[in-house]
Amino acid sequence: MINDIEKKDIRYFQSPNDQQIIITELKNDVASDKRILEDLTIEPKLNDNSFHKFYNFPKYYDKAFTRDVKSDISFFKKCFHQYSNVEVKRVLEPACGPGMFLEILPEYGYYALGYDLNPAMVEYAKEKLKRSNMNANQADVIEGNMKNMKFDEKFDAAFICINSLGYLRSEEEICSHFKVMAESLKPSGIYIIEISCKCDDIKNEKKFDDTWYVKEENFDLELTWAINWYDIEKRIRHVDFHMVINDNGYTTKIEEAHELRLWIFDEFKQFSKSGGFEIVGIYNQNYEKIAENIPITGELGALFFILKKII
Ligand SMILES: C[S@@+](CC[C@H](N)C(=O)[O-])C[C@H]1O[C@@H](n2cnc3c(N)ncnc32)[C@H](O)[C@@H]1O
Repeated sequence: MINDIEKKDIRYFQSPNDQQIIITELKNDVASDKRILEDLTIEPKLNDNSFHKFYNFPKYYDKAFTRDVKSDISFFKKCFHQYSNVEVKRVLEPACGPGMFLEILPEYGYYALGYDLNPAMVEYAKEKLKRSNMNANQADVIEGNMKNMKFDEKFDAAFICINSLGYLRSEEEICSHFKVMAESLKPSGIYIIEISCKCDDIKNEKKFDDTWYVKEENFDLELTWAINWYDIEKRIRHVDFHMVINDNGYTTKIEEAHELRLWIFDEFKQFSKSGGFEIVGIYNQNYEKIAENIPITGELGALFFILKKII
């Protein structure tokens, strides 16, 4: 049921090109720094709005979206034990970004393979694994699109974090993803998905920390991730993203829109079922189980959905 507030918040994009605007301001002499200019003029290689400029800067993403990966992995491990009949050794991470999880998973005894659409992310993650002295039998990363990426050698479990699955927006893409994931997992394999559902009231998307700051030795960042409106009809959650980078005296600004799937719990359940999964548990960010009688909406924040392959 669409309520009045949501109706008011429906807006449409003018054109796909509206969504990527890059503004570069250089404090110093712009032309002298080819490296930065080249980075900023990388054209999207795909005619696909999931290919965002921000993800061409994995170094900054890595610091801006850092998280307590070890706590997450301990939680995943508990879920693997609790919900799967398979002894988990091989773990897959679609849309792995800079590989935060990949470099730690082997410490827990897992072989980890990640893939990402963005070659810059893949290159960065590869370098990171190399720096952590991981060999390809412990962890690896490759390019791939979660829409249709599948593997002959099956995995025991998989996970995808921070609403990365939302970059698949159409029903067709999402169902295709679940299908290939089921084909890539062993029977009763577990797939953990972190997403947040649509809020009953879009005002609840507003967070006090929409803007945050990162300070590192050589650079500092100001970031805003503001969810401003829903397109209910197209099931899109619209995010305005801004980042100001101060790196070694240069200031760079990125402004771009991110369109993500607007998840409605019943639909998500149907999509995962169509691929051959059932939802066996739902947990909040404190890893507490959500009781079955509680409505699953965005007001609960980002949730971990534990899916089990049923075929
Ligand atoms: C928000 S980042 C999350 C990265 C990582 N999952 C994490 O937890 O830090 C989203 C990532 O999804 C990737 N991505 C977007 N669409 C994709 C697709 N269709 N297939 C694979 N990766 C995709 C982006 O390149 C980006 O690295």
